[in-house]
Amino acid sequence: MPNNLLRLAFILHIIFITPTKLFSASTDIELMQQKWPFNGIFGRFDESSLQRGFQVYREVCSACHGIRHVSYRDLKGIGYSNDEIKVIAADYEVMDGPDDNGEMFDREGRPSDKFIGPYENDKIARLANNGAYPPDLSLIVKARAGGADYIYSLLNGYKEFPDNFEASEGMYYNEYYPGNQIAMPSILMDDIVEYSDGTEATQSQIAKDVTSFLAWTAEPELEERKSLGVKTLFFLILITIMLLGVKRKVWKDVE
Ligand code: HEC
Repeated sequence: MPNNLLRLAFILHIIFITPTKLFSASTDIELMQQKWPFNGIFGRFDESSLQRGFQVYREVCSACHGIRHVSYRDLKGIGYSNDEIKVIAADYEVMDGPDDNGEMFDREGRPSDKFIGPYENDKIARLANNGAYPPDLSLIVKARAGGADYIYSLLNGYKEFPDNFEASEGMYYNEYYPGNQIAMPSILMDDIVEYSDGTEATQSQIAKDVTSFLAWTAEPELEERKSLGVKTLFFLILITIMLLGVKRKVWKDVE
């Protein structure tokens, strides 16, 4: 039946072809695809890349973006010690209170605090950014089609405006952003950070590291989930082999 064949071909196409072709949200330009160590069933994060990515977030992105779902003590998950975390947290000022006189006061950040964002409220954030709101980045890798490849492409996707493009005031051209006009300026360039582990800070390396860090903030429990999946798989294979053995034994006398 040609109709059924067509249907089958369609379903096979959806299952096998579609996921390998990732496009950015609404432009049909193909994303720059990277080999992320955290993809695949054995995927794991590269801890030194996460630490470099955190450095990029802290020195560059945190001027405009928060990561409010992450607390300072979560940084243990990317290899920082308790003492290092105390020092990092103390760098931030947190509003606390009210005290016994009913007044709010500022104090140093503690490991249990969530990351303090750059703006006091949304209005100030928009005023500082040409009317656009710099979104919180904690979950952004999960929130965008294309995930890590999209974030990486976006960070590397700035170009001059094409000749006949109607550009709005204060906007920038980005090949991967839906509509191509974005209020975030092109931030990354070679050596905008100096890595303490000696890694060469090319623009592409910086984009890769900060994207990996944001993949971790979006799913810090990824490694546990994957290792549980792999264990479950081995368990199921083992059980299958045992059951086959039992079946052979039970039926061996029956012709
Ligand atoms: C000068 C402020 C500023 C800095 C610094 C900055 N951004 Fe942004 N970013 C913005 C603004 C504003 C937007 C919202 C853009 C819009 O709505 O047009 C944005 C949007 C984004 C988005 C969302 C894009 C989308 O699809 O909606 C991502 C992801 C992002 N920034 C990542 C980063 C990363 C990673 C860094 C650090 C390397 C960074 N930004 C540094 C201002 C900034």
